[in-house]
Amino acid sequence: MERLYQNISKRKSTRKFNMDALDPSSMERVEQALQDIPQLFENLSVSFILVKDGEHFMEKGTSILGAYTKVKSPHYLVVACKEASGFRQAAGYSMAHVLLTLNDLGIATCVTYPGVDLKTIEQFAPLGEEEVPILFIAFGNPEDPLSLYPKADYYKRRSYKDILIQGPVKRKYKFILEAARLAPSSFNTQPWRFAVDGHKIHLLRVKLGFIKSKLFSSLNKIDMGLALGFMVIALKSKEMKFRLMKDPVIYEGMEYMITIEIKE
Ligand SMILES: Cc1cc2nc3c(=O)[nH]c(=O)nc-3n(C[C@H](O)[C@H](O)[C@H](O)COP(=O)(O)O)c2cc1C
Repeated sequence: MERLYQNISKRKSTRKFNMDALDPSSMERVEQALQDIPQLFENLSVSFILVKDGEHFMEKGTSILGAYTKVKSPHYLVVACKEASGFRQAAGYSMAHVLLTLNDLGIATCVTYPGVDLKTIEQFAPLGEEEVPILFIAFGNPEDPLSLYPKADYYKRRSYKDILIQGPVKRKYKFILEAARLAPSSFNTQPWRFAVDGHKIHLLRVKLGFIKSKLFSSLNKIDMGLALGFMVIALKSKEMKFRLMKDPVIYEGMEYMITIEIKE
């Protein structure tokens, strides 16, 4: 986990890829890493289905969100899961581990919203029974090898003041929130907020107004899973004991997600 944790501040989205395929040994490492991805729920498995021929896959894609979604890369992972309760958060949680693992292998990534119809997806990626595609992860070598890692001033993220709705936070817990703060999110919306009460960190999501569509709320649920994944990776890297539990707190305009209880 230490390796993944270190990658939290060394990861960024890549949108310009070298369209050559990854070399076979790198691809093998990706396939190996995908064998053992942590899951948020024991009984709800998130799949990462490899599409090696990314170029043809995306050629068929029509994007509903315009240029933002269109990231052309030599390979993709189709993130898929059954539509059970919490499946979007579960997808985000597992994706956190995949993105950081690929980054650690020196492979560039970008999460993209699928603008490809289901028929095309099924042609390239055999979905499991009842599984639905949730997102894609574009991956490969970056066009500019120097652009893989972020520069010092890269991250455009909200400040602590913005995301902490109740404190104070013990100094020794700050790295956990810092990990979440750096997580990627759809349109960089960073919908996460934290209410800290002693050794409990409650995670909440900013609810969107009527004007924002259902799509954006769905994406923000995935973002919450990503933030949780980054926090868990941070905790595990420091070998801190904790558990995930439901201990709902109420704040106006927020949706409660989960609580991390840290054991001293
Ligand atoms: C759920 C989700 C969906 C995303 N969809 C897209 C997308 O369709 N197209 C795109 O270019 N980037 C997409 N992104 C990448 C975000 O724009 C990016 O993570 C965010 O701006 C923060 O930048 P960073 O990843 O470089 O830190 C997505 C990210 C997430 C987490």
